[in-house]
Amino acid sequence: MTQVSQPARPILEVDDLRRTFGGVRAVDGASFAVEPGRITGLIGPNGAGKSTVLAVIAGSLRPSSGSVRFEGDELTRVPSWLVPRRGVVRTFQLPSEFARLTVLENLVVAAPGQTGESLRGAIFARRRWRSQEADIVARARALLARFDLGDKEDLYAGELSGGQKRLLEIMRCLMVEPKVLLLDEPMAGVNPSLARRIERYLLELRDEGLTMLLIEHELGVVERTCDPVIVMAHGRVIAQGPMSDIRGREEVLHAYLVG
Ligand SMILES: Nc1ncnc2c1ncn2[C@@H]1O[C@H](COP(=O)(O)OP(=O)(O)OP(=O)(O)O)[C@@H](O)[C@H]1O
Ligand SMILES: [Mg+2]
Repeated sequence: MTQVSQPARPILEVDDLRRTFGGVRAVDGASFAVEPGRITGLIGPNGAGKSTVLAVIAGSLRPSSGSVRFEGDELTRVPSWLVPRRGVVRTFQLPSEFARLTVLENLVVAAPGQTGESLRGAIFARRRWRSQEADIVARARALLARFDLGDKEDLYAGELSGGQKRLLEIMRCLMVEPKVLLLDEPMAGVNPSLARRIERYLLELRDEGLTMLLIEHELGVVERTCDPVIVMAHGRVIAQGPMSDIRGREEVLHAYLVG
């Protein structure tokens, strides 16, 4: 008896998404789906609209039109501060840690429902940690150990290397226990050995069932981690499929070479 495996139902569906800035059509009718339990790559030349798509999915930018459905529900109507609580969390293209909080504090304040969701709250909350937030501190420490940063918890986040800040940002997202993690060039500017470590961590997270959408310029990384890959140019999706199929496609080469 043969069993035909059905494609998984998408966890995230982006449909005819548009976003303009003045006269610039940053996203110009992009549609794609993200299946659960995979790392879907989002690639394309500079200015293609990748970060804008991510910001709209994460709720930090409103679309001009179009829809984003998450587990079947329209996400673009959810207030932006509630999107992470639904389970969709993003990293930023530039690191966004609180430089004057310690590494451990950065993780604790990222947990949902904290009085410390704002910087002010974080500082006031500090002295109450021992009693009320012991479980959150324990989760933060477990993440630090897992990502080999256990000895850095008392450093100010501003003292970390560029790569360690990227990792901290990923850990801050994981404190929210997301269902979908949106990553905007998490290895950009990171030294090669730490970049390989981050790559390994992402694969481990995927193997544990976390769904990711990964913007990445380094095609070697995309090839090793992403399946499928969505290619954007000029605000639209111009190709999608496994990286092995995408590499030789003429429209993709054209987008990269001509821009
Ligand atoms: N806040 C903004 N105001 C005005 N224009 C913007 C804004 N954000 C993005 N754009 C423009 O929208 C287009 C798409 O930008 P976006 O940052 O989404 O591209 P990207 O694919 O992430 O590029 P990169 O690979 O360089 O990060 C670009 O032309 C950019 O200049
Ligand atoms: Mg970008």
